[in-house]
Amino acid sequence: MAFSIERFVEDCRAARTRPDWPQAIAELLREAVREPAAIDALTAERGASARKGFDVWVQSDDLTVYQVEGRRGLVSPPHDHACVAVVGIYRGSEGYKTFKVVDGQLTPAGEVTVHAPDVSVLAEDLIHALDNSATEGSGSIHVYGNIHFDLAERRLWHPDTLEEAPFSTSQQFKWTKGARAAAEA
Ligand SMILES: [Fe+2]
Repeated sequence: MAFSIERFVEDCRAARTRPDWPQAIAELLREAVREPAAIDALTAERGASARKGFDVWVQSDDLTVYQVEGRRGLVSPPHDHACVAVVGIYRGSEGYKTFKVVDGQLTPAGEVTVHAPDVSVLAEDLIHALDNSATEGSGSIHVYGNIHFDLAERRLWHPDTLEEAPFSTSQQFKWTKGARAAAEA
């Protein structure tokens, strides 16, 4: 069946009620990432991603789904998600740096590069930063079990000093190298 954004969101809503929702949504994403051309065509029709670099498909208290252009050169500050996240890379590749808090100080813990098609379930306590300085860039779909944007429990760190700062989506975008639309976040 051809990929449909509406159906994907409905399927995610149904999956979210299950205790094993991250695995159920990972399965939906594994099907979705097989159809990169369809995802790109539908996203292009909607236009948001071309303007802002991302396209929110749904946002609610227990489910947020959006598509992102992880452009080449994009480098985000370290952040968490305050929830398990499920990410499907359907086009290209992207890099991540991972971090751990050691004695109260954010500390680099590793690097990973993922290539499409890839679906990853990210642990609730994961801290990472997107780093596409050495990758071609990607198209991806992100699913979170919370409202995601501007959630007070989320955590953010300055990209250079690694000092923790109060989380806001606009601050995250301001500290993202290569981001297009800080004000629209
Ligand atoms: Fe993230």
